[in-house]
Amino acid sequence: MSRFTSQHGGNRREVAQYLGVDEDTLLDFSANINPLGMPLGVRQRLAESLDKLEQYPDVAYQSLHQALAAYHAVPPDWIQAGNGETELIFDLVKTLEPKQALVVSPGFAEYQRALAQAKCQVHTWWLQESAGWQLDDGILSALTPELDCVFLCTPNNPTGLLPDWPLLERIAHKCGDNHIWLIVDEAFLDFVPQQPGFIPVLGNMPWVWVLRSMTKFYAIPGLRLGYALSSHTASMASLRAKRAPWSINTLAAIAGEQVLQETAYQQETWQWVRRENQWLYQALSKVPGIQAWQPQANYLFFRCDVPELDLQWALLEQAGMLIRSCANYPGLDARYYRVAVKSHAANQSLLDALQQVMSALV
Ligand SMILES: Cc1ncc(COP(=O)(O)O)c(C=O)c1O
Repeated sequence: MSRFTSQHGGNRREVAQYLGVDEDTLLDFSANINPLGMPLGVRQRLAESLDKLEQYPDVAYQSLHQALAAYHAVPPDWIQAGNGETELIFDLVKTLEPKQALVVSPGFAEYQRALAQAKCQVHTWWLQESAGWQLDDGILSALTPELDCVFLCTPNNPTGLLPDWPLLERIAHKCGDNHIWLIVDEAFLDFVPQQPGFIPVLGNMPWVWVLRSMTKFYAIPGLRLGYALSSHTASMASLRAKRAPWSINTLAAIAGEQVLQETAYQQETWQWVRRENQWLYQALSKVPGIQAWQPQANYLFFRCDVPELDLQWALLEQAGMLIRSCANYPGLDARYYRVAVKSHAANQSLLDALQQVMSALV
């Protein structure tokens, strides 16, 4: 079991306090943030916009919604931005008021928390290691009319795997036939080149909601920004009506518009992610005692088969590296870990540290 209480990666404060070190000395592989850092253009816009903090943001965030709508070629009333995607997960559950929901496990913990707060009965579709942790068409049999909503994460967190589009389409159609809201979390889809996900088909699928995060791809988790999309404009209007006003700060809203123009940064990110995913996957796969699954987004999921080894702790103690233990994911145990794919130098250091820990034991 992990020694730390946090449900998420990225909790450097807790770990640093436990170790008695400055949190800036930790090399954090536990949060999946683009290592290119915040785009320069965003940094500049933010610096120039500090005076705007003396006014309230536009409560409707019209300019941000119009920019997102133009970027995705959808009408602005299909979009609602939020203070990080997480806020919208909770807002959406409050809006849809599901009584019965299906989640896929192992998966992101916040769907369960939002559903539990709404007193919704939660059913689980378990991914299997024997199927390579990949979603398969077995899930279709679980999409029965008693359900009110289904959460899917594409690519899934923590496994990093993206189901094939034909399967996703079949799932969506079965949800439509059974009057089930399909909520697709595409928080990491931007990292997968040439994968548009569900946004282009939303017009034909008003029962589908897409949730997107800007915090990972554009490296602004501290600013907080995400958005929801649906062509079901009546439900979107009721989501909007339930939200607290001004929950997105002025700087986040400005950054949201700016990032959409950062096409060179997007290209550079795709080049990095293609190169480093493959490199880290192949390198980790060669370490005796490690079984890795080929990542599609910017993080890699693996199992460590050394009995009694707490690899998270070993890497922290020996190298000041923080990786995500997946022991607290239902369906997984203390053998499973997730690491962010970072710069080549950082990935190389992770590999070196891991080889050192493992060579002493295997
Ligand atoms: C799958 C998934 N969805 C959504 C989020 C939340 O993203 P945001 O920072 O936009 O709230 C996370 C954060 O880790 C995540 O892993």
